[in-house]
Amino acid sequence: MSKTKNHILKLLFKNRNDYISGQKISDEIGCSRTAVWKHIKELENEGYTIASVHKRGYKLIDAPDQLSEAKIYAGLTTKTLGHHLVYQDEIPSTQKKAQHLAEDGAEEGTVVLADEQTSGRGRLGRSWHSPKGTGIWMSLIIRPDIPIHKAPQFTLLTAVAVVKAVKHVTGLDCEIKWPNDILYKGKKFVGILTELQAEAADVKAIIVGIGINVNAAIDDFPEELKDIATSLRAEAGTAFDRAELIQEILKAFEDLYKSYMDEGFGLIKLLWESYAISLGRQIYARTANGTVVQGLAQGINDEGVLLLKDKDGKIHKIYSADIEI
Ligand code: BTN
Repeated sequence: MSKTKNHILKLLFKNRNDYISGQKISDEIGCSRTAVWKHIKELENEGYTIASVHKRGYKLIDAPDQLSEAKIYAGLTTKTLGHHLVYQDEIPSTQKKAQHLAEDGAEEGTVVLADEQTSGRGRLGRSWHSPKGTGIWMSLIIRPDIPIHKAPQFTLLTAVAVVKAVKHVTGLDCEIKWPNDILYKGKKFVGILTELQAEAADVKAIIVGIGINVNAAIDDFPEELKDIATSLRAEAGTAFDRAELIQEILKAFEDLYKSYMDEGFGLIKLLWESYAISLGRQIYARTANGTVVQGLAQGINDEGVLLLKDKDGKIHKIYSADIEI
């Protein structure tokens, strides 16, 4: 989308409940009224419904579920998270892009968002199905002043933020499967990938990748996902506004991040445990090297590490694994 059109869209979103005159738009943007009119027509062709009333100007009535910077900014209530937003219609992976931006010094709170990923990445070297127009594929760059061993706590913080935001926007109560899958009725619809850039023992940046199946139809999932994955739309029977969910996630994340930096992991641990499905149950943890530990999931420790008690009473600390219940 051209810069001018994006700017006009931002103004329309900002004044969503009111008319804004063509003159005001052209003054703010520094283009002619004819150019404003031309861009409004283009937006209408792209699916926006814009009322146009003589002597009053333009008013945004409805917007398609098309992601854009303007749409995200319009309802963003965070103090800083997402204010620097890098949006692309198509990208290989938001995570890769965010990694590069972080290496190049991108500021804390930068968010990379795409409508489609062509090489989305999951945990443990897997790929992540990220089709166009139906999901949320985004990566956040944060730079907390913490030692490396605390970084996994951010996976749990993110999961809590997503559960809260999903509840707020959709009313659905979902559950967390350690460390980072979010499920609804046993089927996964969110994946979180937390990656670290570090110098000696200190964190330089954490890249938090969040993938959410929002409006996808199960029929469109690849065969191997049909029985184990779901989407919010499939569960609720209605489509959701992705921009609204993104805004809520960023807000919930920022609030929890502040609580974490001010008061530590306590509140997040409590919330995480209240949403976790595996605690108190016999589970299998399959680690990356193929080892399987079976035991009773006791909880997480202050570093977000899962504690499993085996049949001999020995406690195993699980740092990274796939969990089977
Ligand atoms: C998982 O395996 O469960 C984690 C999936 C993480 C997917 C997200 S989508 C946005 C970001 N970009 C990527 O390439 N991966 C993460």
